[in-house]
Amino acid sequence: MITILKEVDYEQPQLEITPSDAACATKHAWARVPVEPSPAERTQLKDKIRQLLKEKNAVMVSHYYVHPDLQDLAEETGGLVSDSLEMARFGRDHAAQTLVVSGVRFMGETAKILSPEKRVLMPDLEATCSLDLGCPVDEFSAFCDAHPDRTVVVYANTSAAVKARADWLVTSSCALEIVKALKDKGHKILWAPDRHLGGYIQRETGADMLMWNGSCIVHDEFKAFELEALMREHPQAKVLVHPESPEHVVALADAVGSTSAILKAAREMDAREFIVATDNGMMHKLRTLNPGKVFLEAPTAGNSATCKSCAHCPWMAMNSLVDVARVLETGANEVQVDPTLIPRARVPIDRMLAFTSALKGGADAGSLVPMIGAA
Ligand code: 13P
Ligand code: SF4
Repeated sequence: MITILKEVDYEQPQLEITPSDAACATKHAWARVPVEPSPAERTQLKDKIRQLLKEKNAVMVSHYYVHPDLQDLAEETGGLVSDSLEMARFGRDHAAQTLVVSGVRFMGETAKILSPEKRVLMPDLEATCSLDLGCPVDEFSAFCDAHPDRTVVVYANTSAAVKARADWLVTSSCALEIVKALKDKGHKILWAPDRHLGGYIQRETGADMLMWNGSCIVHDEFKAFELEALMREHPQAKVLVHPESPEHVVALADAVGSTSAILKAAREMDAREFIVATDNGMMHKLRTLNPGKVFLEAPTAGNSATCKSCAHCPWMAMNSLVDVARVLETGANEVQVDPTLIPRARVPIDRMLAFTSALKGGADAGSLVPMIGAA
């Protein structure tokens, strides 16, 4: 039997997560979006960062949504730009003793949990995520306590304390396979925090999932009605959607997946035009890797809105070259995770990384079911 219950109803969460112009206006007030340096300053800062990375035995790990300079510099200096799953794996496996994580706080915390002996620096420690903010550990623990018969699966976009309550961690690039394997093994699932990603996984797998009611303020803004209008204007375009988007938007997609799955689809699909429903930081990689193709941003608000939200995460936007140089130089902004939480928070992350590396190594998801354990 399939059950979806909204146990925790966040009609009025601490943070306003409203699909309206208010979200757009407020989100820019929460975040300090850095001033763009001049071209000369950019060159100087990049040179300085290259030098500091060598001096400090450090490597950059950047997410696809951060400023293009931070993506390019990570790659040019032997670091990585990728989705949240591969950021975690790369940070764990790289020999450098200092990781500079450009992204949001959960990404830095995951790196620290996996490598407590390394120094993990972030350009801005206040860069967080609405999913993490909307899932406070006390309420989440009470939710878990009320449903002891369920296997707890949490999205990577959560605090270390929430991870420490989980059985499994997932990102959008592996959630489908992991939940399907759990379902096949007879598990009923307690899922947190993203209701849209959870709903997508449930529709695809038919798993019995009890949902936390969280959402991403960026993806929640994509609108199906306006997307359909844009699709009519561009009838040849393929639609690529991140599964943190609402159900009606996902239903219009030609491909649904994580940031890296979106990149793969754009490269492999035989189309010239694409409409993309994810943070517009993705456009940099999409365009540089596919010079002959055209990428359009999916619409985020209707004509009735007084403000078009911008499809860019306000917290990802807080990462800057100036702060990367500063934290490398001074050692400021070191990510701290309560050491008593680390061993338990590591359990679900290690499971996810082991499962996904077995999949990558060619195992089919079905054969990995024994790794999951019976319910
Ligand atoms: P990915 O795991 O797809 O990179 O997504 C992380 C994220 O925060 C999306 O909003
Ligand atoms: Fe969180 Fe959404 Fe920003 Fe991703 S884009 S970090 S899910 S608020």
